[in-house]
Amino acid sequence: MDFQNLISDKMLGVKASAIREIFKVAGKPDVISFAGGLPAPESFPVADIKTICNDILDNEPITALQYGISEGYVPLKELVLNRMKEKEDIGRENDDIIIVSGSQQGCDLTAKVLLNEGDGVICEEPSFIGCLNTFRTYNAKLYGVPMNEDGMDLAVLEETLKKNQNIKLIYTIPTFQNPSGITSSLAVRKGMLELAQKYNVMILEDNPYGELRFSGEKIPTIKSMDTTGHVIYLGSFSKVFSPGLRLAYLIMDKGIMEKIVVGKQATDVHTNVFSQMIAARYLKDYNIDESIETSRKLYKHRCHLMLSCMDTYFPKNVSYTRPDGGIFIWVTLPEGVDTGKLMLEAVERKVAFVPGNAFMTDLDKPSHCFRLNYSTMSDEKIEKGIKILGDLLKERL
Ligand SMILES: Cc1ncc(COP(=O)(O)O)c(C=O)c1O
Repeated sequence: MDFQNLISDKMLGVKASAIREIFKVAGKPDVISFAGGLPAPESFPVADIKTICNDILDNEPITALQYGISEGYVPLKELVLNRMKEKEDIGRENDDIIIVSGSQQGCDLTAKVLLNEGDGVICEEPSFIGCLNTFRTYNAKLYGVPMNEDGMDLAVLEETLKKNQNIKLIYTIPTFQNPSGITSSLAVRKGMLELAQKYNVMILEDNPYGELRFSGEKIPTIKSMDTTGHVIYLGSFSKVFSPGLRLAYLIMDKGIMEKIVVGKQATDVHTNVFSQMIAARYLKDYNIDESIETSRKLYKHRCHLMLSCMDTYFPKNVSYTRPDGGIFIWVTLPEGVDTGKLMLEAVERKVAFVPGNAFMTDLDKPSHCFRLNYSTMSDEKIEKGIKILGDLLKERL
């Protein structure tokens, strides 16, 4: 049967994520994959979660197994709000929180509530492919603003806002960005907020990696500086607790939250209650900061090892970011090199990465950049894989 003319217009143009396609080859056991973006499995507090699950099923089985409310499990909402207030100074008087099924859903609900077909979304270039695809599924028009070392280019951002009346949203990952590892400076964060206020557009601040800092000074979130309600904050448990539990949260002005709640009801009624109870118990009775500290140390070690191998084995006309946290390094080769083609050669040599075009607004334009991930890799594989990549780069550049 030909399904083509049954598919909706908004899905026709959206392609399967290039990363998923790369995973098919990168997932083979003999391939050293720097293509992923998973948290280190060693960071999952398995024994604690087992104890918590047993306890919940012994003492509160009905709450765990019954329907819940769309806004989220109340004790978890309170714990997260308190934590965000204490750590990030987030939570204005008129703000509220909703627990969502992963940040991916948080982004989807934001798009669902804000965007009409053809509305504009400004995103960093490069940016996280999952959320770019979310905006694409709402038939939004993407406007990429290039990233400098300190975040979005503010002059281009203002120019884009000035020229395009259809823009509703600026999507940013200001801290340890996926894919670039770049952290936006305080000046860029303030500048983005001022521009959002001036042109009356919303900012979606996606911050799944913020707590994974292993060097440098902490920089305030954009949301903490938001006095007018222009910022929607998106936090996640995926990189600091467990991605499989599918837990994230949106904090925003109550005026928009109302619609987000209705949108969530229409999508999945509510986030898995059992997962929410596990996270709430973990936050209340265990030490999540200690567990995050373990991840930070691990990622610091792996990041620094990868960078030092790159310093040794990569040719000198290759540049790369030196992140202060998170799980990604962004590599820039001389103009004209197509990292899509290079990736195929790398895979033949049993090493994988994600070519830069996957993170761009125009997926079809070849990119001379690529993303490396270090979070799940052993020292031995980092050293071996980076040497193989370095040899390939020396031959091709
Ligand atoms: C920037 C960014 N936003 C959102 C997500 C989605 O995370 P979640 O597991 O919370 O849906 C990711 C996952 O890699 C990400 O890197």
